[in-house]
Amino acid sequence: MTRVLSGIQPSGTLHIGNYFAMMKRMIEFQNEHELFCFIVNYHAMTSLHDPKALSENTIDAALDFLALGLDPEKCYFWVQSDIPEVTELAWILSCHTSLGLLERSHSYKDKLAKGITPSCGLFTYPVLMAADILLYQAKLIPVGKDQKQHIEITRDIAERFNAIYGETFVLPEPMISEDIAVVPGIDGQKMSKSYGNTIDIFEDEASLKKKVMRIKTDSTPVEAPKDPENCNLFALYRLFAEKEKTEALRERYLKGGVGYGEVKKELLGLIYEYFSPYRKKREVLARERQAVKDVLKKGAEKTRPIAVKTLDDVKRRSGLYYV
Ligand code: ADP
Ligand code: TRP
Repeated sequence: MTRVLSGIQPSGTLHIGNYFAMMKRMIEFQNEHELFCFIVNYHAMTSLHDPKALSENTIDAALDFLALGLDPEKCYFWVQSDIPEVTELAWILSCHTSLGLLERSHSYKDKLAKGITPSCGLFTYPVLMAADILLYQAKLIPVGKDQKQHIEITRDIAERFNAIYGETFVLPEPMISEDIAVVPGIDGQKMSKSYGNTIDIFEDEASLKKKVMRIKTDSTPVEAPKDPENCNLFALYRLFAEKEKTEALRERYLKGGVGYGEVKKELLGLIYEYFSPYRKKREVLARERQAVKDVLKKGAEKTRPIAVKTLDDVKRRSGLYYV
């Protein structure tokens, strides 16, 4: 069994980009792999300084995973800050990470370009992510395309450490599903909590309708043929529709005669139906927030010995256990 690990930030409400690129695949992996799934609240702190929101989003993210079918008995499921060894390892790794490596980070540069005043935490974000991965000796990391460079940075740090102290860390590999590498938002940019262009997994019906109707399309008239490959609406449709249905829509696009408004109505029905069974389960779970917290605390207890073992090895190899 291969060790698979990934985390999600509780920095806002989870959306269908998160679902298809990461959550859905993680939930499928619990049956065939050794799965490590966690909520990275220390990472969310790089952008969120509202204690109520951070704490509530953490439970909400856990609720989403559980409602969508993650089974804590079949995997390791916890909150990042409940295993303090991760920040200890992050410090040790940061002493083996060159400044240049972090300065080349696309996600850091993108955030600077957006005018965010960076904190030290935002700059060293990839080191904490490396600690997340290396602490559990994970091999495969299912993420969206935007996280690829972070996994490469993790490999660089691990290789550097292994070269100095001997084989300590497993080198991880990103697992990116090419057809859902980037899910577009309703404005056509990458769907992201920070761009205000998301369709959330558990969006209520009225707001889902509003968002789907706002999906940006071009102004090709109804009768004219349309290009399915360069259409956000089509890209979203194919995530939810069966293969035959997607192919049928592709043909309707190429032939002309289909209007975007009509496709939006179909998509709305598909999204609502897709998440409908999970929605009911989430409503039930949401009444038991304390029970969800207990699941997470138990998950941390189950996971922590693995972290302690790796950190112990790291400290022994690097001379921190002085004699
Ligand atoms: P966000 O950009 O909304 O803050 P996160 O950074 O928390 O999302 O991402 C959580 C996971 O979801 C990561 O694996 C990320 O690659 C993936 N992901 C987020 N948005 C998208 C998207 N629009 N398309 C594909 N994957 C995405
Ligand atoms: N940086 C990731 C994101 O924004 C979240 C994350 C933190 C993560 N630690 C991780 C993902 C470890 C995979 C493995 O989506």
